[in-house]
Amino acid sequence: MKNQKPWSGRFKKETHARAEEMNASISFDRRLYRQDILGSIAHARVLRKAGILSKTEAARIIKGLRSVEKEMASGRFRFTPDMEDIHMAVEKRLTEKIGAAGGKLHTGRSRNDQVSLDERLYLKDEINGILALIRELQRALVEVSKKNLDCIMPGYTHMQRAQPMLFSHHLLAYYEMLKRDKGRMTDCLKRTDSMPLGSGALAGSPYRLDRRYCAKLLGFSAVTENSLDAVSDRDFAVEFLASAAIVSMHLSRLGEELILWSTEEFGFIELSDAFSTGSSMMPQKKNPDIAELARGKTGRVYGNLITLLTVMKALPLAYNKDMQEDKEPLFDTVRTLKTVLGVFPPMLRTMKVNRERMREAASGGFLTATDAADYLAARGMPFRGAHNAVGKAVAYCLGKGIGLTDLGLKEWKRFSPLFGSDIKRVVSAGSSVNARRLLGGTALPAVKKQLKKVEMELKKR
Ligand code: ARG
Repeated sequence: MKNQKPWSGRFKKETHARAEEMNASISFDRRLYRQDILGSIAHARVLRKAGILSKTEAARIIKGLRSVEKEMASGRFRFTPDMEDIHMAVEKRLTEKIGAAGGKLHTGRSRNDQVSLDERLYLKDEINGILALIRELQRALVEVSKKNLDCIMPGYTHMQRAQPMLFSHHLLAYYEMLKRDKGRMTDCLKRTDSMPLGSGALAGSPYRLDRRYCAKLLGFSAVTENSLDAVSDRDFAVEFLASAAIVSMHLSRLGEELILWSTEEFGFIELSDAFSTGSSMMPQKKNPDIAELARGKTGRVYGNLITLLTVMKALPLAYNKDMQEDKEPLFDTVRTLKTVLGVFPPMLRTMKVNRERMREAASGGFLTATDAADYLAARGMPFRGAHNAVGKAVAYCLGKGIGLTDLGLKEWKRFSPLFGSDIKRVVSAGSSVNARRLLGGTALPAVKKQLKKVEMELKKR
């Protein structure tokens, strides 16, 4: 056979070209070359320690692997579908370089434990990178919050103006979401951080491989406890994709708010030209494409999660080739999430905040109707009755085309004798915000307290 496979011993026919094409993962798993070689070097050391490789054999293998790594890193190496996957490509090249000794490297190892190792090494790095990107976004949110501490905006429910709020309070809501995201990613990292080599194809290895030594060499803090589970398990990837889906969901909400806020109708912010695009036809347009893509890319991140969940569903133990389908969704989500996370900090830092416009939108109208009801409740009226009285005042204002702040004391008294001259102040946007001083509220002192706390958190990392 001209195209010799490592498993060709029991085969009489060559692989059909179409089967080979479908079977090969080299076009996408080649990006794991560094992890594959790192794992192979550690495995060579373990084989040496077990007395399976002589000192010179181990040294030659390790030296050979390093030069394969250089070749692959330089882009000079040509990956072809007949290599099937990265594990075989590395081994084949090693053997070409150092001869038969290269064939000893696969002792006590299967591609099944090897691929699990490579993916774990890859994901550990990527999760750490993603955690750093989340922290950077949190820092940007804190910076913009601090710069705009005096900025009052309308808060919304059902996209209807609800109550006045500090813009900083709104931004810090995203800080909290991202904090939970970090928690989920860190948790996923713990379960990814388990070393599977030694599991062999499924049942473990008859060689006395020192698995803890291997874990130490590769920087893992644990070893997997059951060989069958180790080669069947892709939970770490599913968990990562699920955590990434939640991060994306949060980013899509932030993206959506930036899009809304930069409409002429809202006019709360203006995104920098650097994060906007124009129209090929309409000369006046400035579009928030980047924020829109942040929203839109959530679709593929969700899709990748569903892909892997579906691939893994009902798969019998242990390894099945279906599992090769885990890589593209994983790589795609890592790339997408890094892109989207990375674009927000500069987009936020460079946007223009139209404080006047926000304050205007938060003043007048009826955003402080709750404060008027609370005023009555504080003077002994049951809240339900207070709600009703203020509701009538709102209806009265709507009839006259005015807002609550335009009402005179005489008019207030029509709805309840409990209203005193201080109601005028109470229904201003500023005093409404200021009243919410409790922990987690939107008053300036409460927001400053939260800022202090989150800055401490960010320092701790
Ligand atoms: N390319 C394979 C994958 O990504 C590696 C494991 C193959 N193992 C096997 N027994 N065919 O899943």
